Amino acid sequence: GERFYDYKHKESGAEILKAQHPEFELWSQGIHSRSGVACADCHMPYMRDGASKVSDHWVRSPLLNVNRACQTCHHIAESEILARVDSIQQKNFDLLQRGGTALMELLDAVAVAKKAGATDEQLKPALEFQRQAQWRLDYIAAENSMGFHAPQEAARILAEAADYARQGQVMALKLAK
Ligand code: HEC
Ligand code: HEC
Repeated sequence: GERFYDYKHKESGAEILKAQHPEFELWSQGIHSRSGVACADCHMPYMRDGASKVSDHWVRSPLLNVNRACQTCHHIAESEILARVDSIQQKNFDLLQRGGTALMELLDAVAVAKKAGATDEQLKPALEFQRQAQWRLDYIAAENSMGFHAPQEAARILAEAADYARQGQVMALKLAK
């Protein structure tokens, strides 16, 4: 049977999957999940107001209220907490950019190979690598914590993306001669 894909890439024709709700999946691979810290612990910290409990809306950034969202557990300065999150997110961003560059170069190589007369059948393995790389990049790009929910897992996924993109590029370049 036909396998599932969300759309065909308009340039190369590769079958592409899209990431839908990646926050839960990524969080489940991280240290907070492992330590029993759930979404609501960071995203809906209770604001005690007399007898009633009011909670922040869960989609708000916990960084807008580090005191209630983080410092209940982390007894360190707010500036240090923010710096740690920033460092994680910056590294995630840098790896995402590298992966994106690798994917663009794979697409360029596929275009050159097509011009040189490579057939769809010959290009299949390179497009399979594109699919693998693109799925991983989309997954982390769609994940709204910018890597924070599970930094090491996010880095692992982005390393795989870059590797698949480069493998696909090498294959396409062989057909471009
Ligand atoms: C340990 C604390 C923590 C836990 C647990 C956690 N998050 Fe987050 N989440 C964050 C931080 C920090 C950010 C980054 C916010 C920013 O960059 O401003 C974030 C970002 C987000 C965002 C983007 C929000 C925005 O305003 O940009 C969403 C959506 C989200 N998380 C959903 C979830 C879901 C769903 C879960 C559980 C499956 C979860 N989070 C678990 C800390 C947490
Ligand atoms: C309910 C308790 C709890 C809350 C709330 C919480 N954390 Fe944590 N956090 C932990 C635990 C437990 C660990 C695992 C390390 C440890 O045991 O000290 C951890 C680890 C971390 C680490 C190290 C991550 C790593 O991969 O090594 C960072 C950074 C961090 N937390 C940031 C935050 C930020 C930012 C918030 C608020 C948005 C937050 N935490 C909210 C309990 C919490």
